[in-house]
Amino acid sequence: MAFLSDTLARVKPSPTIAVTTKAQQLKAEGKDVIGLGAGEPDFDTPQNIKDAAKRAIDAGKTKYTAVDGIPELKAAICRKFERENGLKYTPSQITVGTGGKQILYNALMATCNPGDEVIIPAPYWVSYPDMVLLAGGTPVTVECGIETDFKLTPEKLEAAITPKTKWFIFNSPSNPTGAGYTAAELKALTDVLMRHPHVWIMSDDMYEHLVFDDFKFATPAEVEPGLFDRTLTCNGVSKAYAMTGWRIGYAGGPVQLIKAMGTIQSQSTSNPCSVSQYAAVEALDGPQGFLTDNKALFQRRRDLVVSMLNQASGITCPRPEGAFYVYPDISGCIGKTSAGGTVINDDEAFAAALLEETGVAVVFGAAFGVSPNFRVSYATSDAALEEACRRIQSFCAGLT
Ligand SMILES: Cc1ncc(COP(=O)(O)O)c(C=O)c1O
Repeated sequence: MAFLSDTLARVKPSPTIAVTTKAQQLKAEGKDVIGLGAGEPDFDTPQNIKDAAKRAIDAGKTKYTAVDGIPELKAAICRKFERENGLKYTPSQITVGTGGKQILYNALMATCNPGDEVIIPAPYWVSYPDMVLLAGGTPVTVECGIETDFKLTPEKLEAAITPKTKWFIFNSPSNPTGAGYTAAELKALTDVLMRHPHVWIMSDDMYEHLVFDDFKFATPAEVEPGLFDRTLTCNGVSKAYAMTGWRIGYAGGPVQLIKAMGTIQSQSTSNPCSVSQYAAVEALDGPQGFLTDNKALFQRRRDLVVSMLNQASGITCPRPEGAFYVYPDISGCIGKTSAGGTVINDDEAFAAALLEETGVAVVFGAAFGVSPNFRVSYATSDAALEEACRRIQSFCAGLT
């Protein structure tokens, strides 16, 4: 009898976490490494949020709470959805979990049966396909290349829908490409979904606040109210408020689904950290100036990275609308040999040689389902980014 489960055999560990761990390990060995793998802001949680957490601790808010969130937080989430997205949820339509990750996982665990298909546009966040597999469903990935700015077209969505489709996972701005859908682009997708009433929509809005220039964020249930009753609108405080370690994510959706997700959570982790929930109330209800400051900072870094990477030979780097990632295409580097003697057969070989020969850690594109590319997270200092891009430029110049 095998000790490990068959379910485990279907999934793999997160490649983005693997790159970050490898970069930290090389650093600990004294190597000069610049990590561009981590998906989190490089600055601290705002002071008002930390103070709210301290007050919660001092007030003894340190016990179990309601499994899917304290009433104060659910009320703050309802206000947020109405204020920022024009979506009217009641507290019974809200669930809170240990990070956005648990929210998505709960939803898939609560709904996927064997044979159920989940449409995932690629490039995708690494966890979507594996979560679907863990839940017993079948991921159906749809490749969206650089020619459409890594965005899904209505034609491709239509072609991917079958009678077995249960969910369509939508993520804008995207991890790993930073691509954001305008309301018009999104409406073209929701028009397709309106014609297929058996398909549910899981919108992962984690990077909502990280959008640049005059781009306006839009979410499916806002663009097409006709989809409200079969949309799970997922969000969290991790990326917007630099709160990745606090582990608070949330969603709004139909009561039956929200209840089912609560059942999964009640038999796995129970409530998210009580103190973090009080901190999240302050994040959502408190001053929002932090978001504007971050936007300006990330926009400057995006411009720096896009401009420097486009000067590297063999690399084409689109300029994304949001998040803190770029996803350059390296077609011009494939088949060449690095100065250190590695043949660059694919993007995994590119990333491995880049780390080995220059100390720059990036995540190879195959991990996100579209190649040959790599993902850069520019959530790091301007100085580190400039140096990393210089090293990438000289690595590419050395390819023969
Ligand atoms: C697209 C996307 N969704 C969800 C998450 C999960 O966020 P959290 O840290 O709140 O679990 C991430 C984190 O990297 C992400 O990039």
